[in-house]
Amino acid sequence: MLVHFVTDQTSKIPAIRLVLEPRHQLVPRLLGSDDTPVDSSGVLMVDADLRDAVRVEQIRGVVQDLKDTVEKLFVVQNNVRPLVAQAYALGATAVVSRPREIIFELEQIDVARKAAKQTNDGAPAPSEITDSALAFASMFSAVRRGGKINLLDAEQATAHIIGSIEANGLRAWLDDVRRYHEGTFQHCLLVTGVAVGFALELGCGSTDVARLGIAATLHDLGKAHIPLTILDKAGRLDPGEEANMRRHPEIGYGLLKDVAGISPECLDGVRHHHEYLDGSGYPDGLTAPEISDLVRLLTISDIFAALIEARPYRSPMSRQDAYKILRSMGGKLETSLVTAFRDVALVA
Ligand SMILES: [Fe+2]
Ligand SMILES: [Fe+2]
Repeated sequence: MLVHFVTDQTSKIPAIRLVLEPRHQLVPRLLGSDDTPVDSSGVLMVDADLRDAVRVEQIRGVVQDLKDTVEKLFVVQNNVRPLVAQAYALGATAVVSRPREIIFELEQIDVARKAAKQTNDGAPAPSEITDSALAFASMFSAVRRGGKINLLDAEQATAHIIGSIEANGLRAWLDDVRRYHEGTFQHCLLVTGVAVGFALELGCGSTDVARLGIAATLHDLGKAHIPLTILDKAGRLDPGEEANMRRHPEIGYGLLKDVAGISPECLDGVRHHHEYLDGSGYPDGLTAPEISDLVRLLTISDIFAALIEARPYRSPMSRQDAYKILRSMGGKLETSLVTAFRDVALVA
């Protein structure tokens, strides 16, 4: 996405480049030294001293130049209240306290724009996907900013996914998600779809389908606190990065354990979806007797979804090859469930 970065200090430009590029295209503009008109197609990001009256006037001018730009993001250190108010008075549509948080606002904008573009192109993304992706985007964004998780939103997103798979089947869901979404959101949407498809295949009742579905929706929420340099790394993680990444089940558990209405089964799924029957998983090194049925189903769904999605360092695997890998993990996954998963992996 095109990001017009407006600042009062040239020293801020290299730092923001590191955060946003290459995913986004940065167009820096130094207040008071560059009056070149710019086109309004991107997102405006302002990081300048809002206590300085001269700067405020200059920002007003830039905002006027970019009046057709819908999204205007302002950085206000420590969310100082009068400055947040000043930012909104200048036309901010969102205020963040650190430049890095902008990236999550941009992800949300990107999801919404893609949905709108697809609608304009006459090939709309199914609304279940758009609604669910937006719900995931806002959950991750809230967590990164230290905000609260809205369990109702997560439950509604899960219900949309269940409804879509019941109506159109898993194959349509997987194809649509992979066509319309990328990265963390794609993974969450795929895992939830696969888990729901698996539960339906097993003949689970609606309560159990919803229970597994919400655990899948929330299973990787802890990744909201893993640095993007690790999540988006275009290569294998080094041992230090791998250790950092492996913190995400415990982080997710910590974020959710005090949320009103969350079920113990869901928390179990979030914390233990990387555990294996032979005790080789993490974070608690559980063994078979300690691993619940829900976790067993979730783990199989998570591994399969991860294999069939594109990762920065490899292309997506075919469903056949992904299923072969599940079959080769005999001691780690429950064999009878992997056998039952065959129809989900290859047919559904
Ligand atoms: Fe995970
Ligand atoms: Fe996952």
